[in-house]
Amino acid sequence: MTLPSRSEAVAAHRISDGAPLLEVKNLHTHFFTGEGIVLAVDGASFEVHAGKTLGLVGESGCGKSVAAKSILQIVDKPGRVVDGEILYTSQVSAGQEIRRDLLKLDAGGSEMRAIRGGEISMIFQEPMSSFSPVHTVGNQLMEAIQLHTEMSDKEAEETAIQWLRHVGIPNPTQRLNEFPYRLSGGQCQRAMIAMALSTNPRILIADEPTTALDVTTQAQILNLLQRLQAETGMAMIFITHDLGVIAEVADEVAVMYLGRMVEKAPVKEIFRNPKHPYTKALLTSIPRIDAQPRERLPSIKGSIPHPQNRPSSCPFHPRCPAFIPGTCDQKEPQLAPVGENHQASCFLYPGC
Ligand SMILES: Nc1ncnc2c1ncn2[C@@H]1O[C@H](COP(=O)(O)OP(=O)(O)OP(=O)(O)O)[C@@H](O)[C@H]1O
Ligand code: SF4
Ligand SMILES: [Mg+2]
Repeated sequence: MTLPSRSEAVAAHRISDGAPLLEVKNLHTHFFTGEGIVLAVDGASFEVHAGKTLGLVGESGCGKSVAAKSILQIVDKPGRVVDGEILYTSQVSAGQEIRRDLLKLDAGGSEMRAIRGGEISMIFQEPMSSFSPVHTVGNQLMEAIQLHTEMSDKEAEETAIQWLRHVGIPNPTQRLNEFPYRLSGGQCQRAMIAMALSTNPRILIADEPTTALDVTTQAQILNLLQRLQAETGMAMIFITHDLGVIAEVADEVAVMYLGRMVEKAPVKEIFRNPKHPYTKALLTSIPRIDAQPRERLPSIKGSIPHPQNRPSSCPFHPRCPAFIPGTCDQKEPQLAPVGENHQASCFLYPGC
């Protein structure tokens, strides 16, 4: 496979006015259940730039996967995007770009189908959920390729084999005829990556792509994603609750709590100079390299409230060690600048 250099690859995806490739603004995605409305995503905003990786972090249930699925308009029922904008810039031809709000496109229409899985691909949190158990790996890869290209069966098969080889699956020609259950966890993850990348997406959404894997396979998959990003110039939204992984892969970080961002900054700044008490708490729960094997990690006090019972003031106040009575339990802080390229929503900082 002949691939361009990293700078050529990134340049191919860059937007002419330097704007983000994808801009999610004030996204609200709610689930209308029999027991009430779940505010899974409730005012989330973030940006993704060409060739860069945005790390989306937060504890389980804070809305990371629902935010990602909202971008592709594949939120499970009874969920629905109720407000916000998802501005994405497509390149229709060399030098010609169109910026569209994906939420204004028909979810089942041809424009959205060309973007979903073509220009923006996703690796799902549940490794097996991308593959149908009743079709071979090859058929599914070829179908994805042919949905987004004009390739013949023969060309699609060759491309599928090349991609399986490229992601490090041994004997790719033979693997093509096998069913997904025959693959190990690591191989299934690699095949999913091959399927997601086989259409040469401009953005890859990787939702916890290594959580189910052992440490060695985890490291291999992270290396693979970084290598493929360097080769193709794609941008990534990397979703995880593991800040250790974020330190390795992300350029920018958005920290999410109860459906919205509480802090955003470049990755080095988040680690060196975290501002929000929630980010600080997440950072103290990363295993230290010098930790004794049985040493317990400090965990964040209390548990994340259910999005149905979101506190109306600062959502982190019941758990916050820096809680200011009379302020934090009375009103909600807003995301505001707290440094260069650094934003947080906390009353400890002026302007929030
Ligand atoms: N189909 C559904 N019906 C009702 N509520 C849902 C549904 N899917 C998700 N939710 C709720 O939306 C909230 C956000 O879920 P989401 O899956 O985005 O969390 P997450 O941050 O990805 O967590 P994890 O790290 O565990 O993957 C959770 O409270 C979850 O219970
Ligand atoms: S606003 Fe108050 S409760 Fe919320 S994170 Fe800041 S200090 Fe803690
Ligand atoms: Mg998730």
